[in-house]
Amino acid sequence: MSSAGQSGTESATAEHPKAYPPPEEFAASAVATADLYDEADADRLAFWAKQARTLQWDTEFTDTLDWSNAPFAKWFVGGKLNVAANCLDRHVDAGNGDRVAIHWVGEPGDTRDLTYSDLLGEVSKAANHLTELGLQPGDRVAIYMPMVPEAIIAILACARLGLPHSVVFAGFSAAALRSRVDDAQAKLVITTDGQFRRGKPAPLKAAVDEALGTGDDAAPSVEHVLVVKRTDHDPDLNWVDGRDLWWHETVGNASDQHSYTAFDAEHPLFLLYTSGTTGKPKGILHTSGGYLTQIAYTFKNVFDHRPETDVFWCGADIGWVTGHSYLVYGPLSNGATEIVYEGTPNSPNEHRHFEIIENYKVTTYYIAPTLIRTFMKWGREIPDAHDLSSLRLLGSVGEPINPEAWRWYRSVIGADRCPIVDTWWQTETGAMMISPLPGVTHAKPGSAMRPLPGISAKIVDDNAQPVAAGEQGYLVLDQPWPSMLRGVWGDDDRFRDTYWSRFAEQGWYFAGDGARYDEDGALWVLGRIDDVMNVSGHRISTSEVESALVGHSGVAEAAVIGAADETTGQGIVAFVILRSGVEDRGDAMIDELKAHVAKDISPIAKPREIIVVPELPKTRSGKIMRRLLKDVAEGRELGDTSTLVDPTVFENIRRRNS
Ligand code: WTA
Repeated sequence: MSSAGQSGTESATAEHPKAYPPPEEFAASAVATADLYDEADADRLAFWAKQARTLQWDTEFTDTLDWSNAPFAKWFVGGKLNVAANCLDRHVDAGNGDRVAIHWVGEPGDTRDLTYSDLLGEVSKAANHLTELGLQPGDRVAIYMPMVPEAIIAILACARLGLPHSVVFAGFSAAALRSRVDDAQAKLVITTDGQFRRGKPAPLKAAVDEALGTGDDAAPSVEHVLVVKRTDHDPDLNWVDGRDLWWHETVGNASDQHSYTAFDAEHPLFLLYTSGTTGKPKGILHTSGGYLTQIAYTFKNVFDHRPETDVFWCGADIGWVTGHSYLVYGPLSNGATEIVYEGTPNSPNEHRHFEIIENYKVTTYYIAPTLIRTFMKWGREIPDAHDLSSLRLLGSVGEPINPEAWRWYRSVIGADRCPIVDTWWQTETGAMMISPLPGVTHAKPGSAMRPLPGISAKIVDDNAQPVAAGEQGYLVLDQPWPSMLRGVWGDDDRFRDTYWSRFAEQGWYFAGDGARYDEDGALWVLGRIDDVMNVSGHRISTSEVESALVGHSGVAEAAVIGAADETTGQGIVAFVILRSGVEDRGDAMIDELKAHVAKDISPIAKPREIIVVPELPKTRSGKIMRRLLKDVAEGRELGDTSTLVDPTVFENIRRRNS
């Protein structure tokens, strides 16, 4: 394997140091110290058993791991616990019932604070009503809701009763909801009448009605639809008698006392469908004890969490795994105080996030690089207009973060004093896997650095041999971990094929990402394998070229794809958005950008074509739809654009290109 240019080997300067050590004060009192690595290395399973024991178990486990039926893991064998009790009752019992669990901020500006006692009461009411509906442990519940407090209450009520939840992002279509409801055979759907989008109410229950159908076409598994009144915008809201129930009339009137039962450590906690670039979505299955153990552990140590003083904010939606793990289970299992914000970052204007940070004195802020680049595009005067001095730690998740965005995040949002944790993980891994420890790691901009204590990863070639530093290979996880997926719902073959067949002999989990180590042993995740281009036999990661382009002062955002090329196999085609105020100088600009990439990475990485565009086509989860860009670059008929946030973006690109 040849390696292309290395965004991580740029030479260090005073202005751009190669690595950023933790601020002294931060390191001096950090929750996680370097000893954690030694402890985990000395005895990995004992380490995880110790982490598990920080939770509240109703029955102790007898074995830490049973891997005899690999790849189907059993963690904390024989143990019994209740996940919701770990997130609620435990804190109330410890005398922390008056601590705010959730500072909720609605899109129109309404707010609601829920203490741990409040949340326990609400979850108990919901649990009592779900029991009344006849739901039994193991029955699946679909949750299709915007970011209202009831969404978290519903999730925790399911967990409390042992009902695996399947949260479906409220931006998905009726068809997407139906296929997920059918695949999981959900008995109950919980939704809202509508949701606020940029200040206006938009229907949501209507999509549920469409999804569930009527008569012969009715979803066979669904018995009830429980509806939270959020927008109250439609006097003629469709109502199916016998099936539909108002939350406030049912849950609202239920008792707020509920005693939980404990479930086996391997009891299914939730399904989460990953959109997958090909084929039908997979229902990734997570279970109880191992998942909560790793979530609680990573939240505490990676976010250096102080329950008494921190205010945590994860910007993800509950529809994605980041929302499950670090908006629901991670913060609440740690007794944290957190922000839950309903809307988009630019409603009513671009100041929204910074106002929330300022008003609630947020200490810990966890968002995706795409949002950081959006902030960069809006300009630093927006964050500069706010007092962000409460922040002490910043996090990044979801995609490789380019060094330019990393530095901007650190200096503009973090005032050069907040460590950044760039956390690599997946829906399938359940929890963070590769990340700096904020008080220990000398973080390099753009690198997730090294596996967390207790986690083991390798970078290997096609023959399962470790690659040399600087060479690109496949990222694999060579040891089971507590929050690992336990399967693909109803499809064991797909589970084995997708994740375990590539390195079956070794028994390694294939993550689907390319990665490399640099000369200092720092790990760089380069993006999905299918985002790796092959140009004249050289492997070049799309994210490396993107990173170089975004490193040019005129570029706000870039998406790069490998387009079929007669001579070189693939040719690099880049779509770029210019920063506001930068003049598009036509060919001169394009030539300059090409030269910039050639210089920053290598002439082999120089794009064949650069197209300046006003917007990039993104899925609702914020991922750039490279497949569609490929269609444009290769002059094909467009594929399916239905999952795009804004399909017209795409038409603009096409028009400019034709
Ligand atoms: C990518 C999101 C680089 C990666 C938690 C992975 C990252 C996929 C990072 C999983 C990161 C996530 N650096 N790449 N810090 N975090 N990824 O399932 O390609 O939505 O395989 O989970 O996102 O996406 P998913």
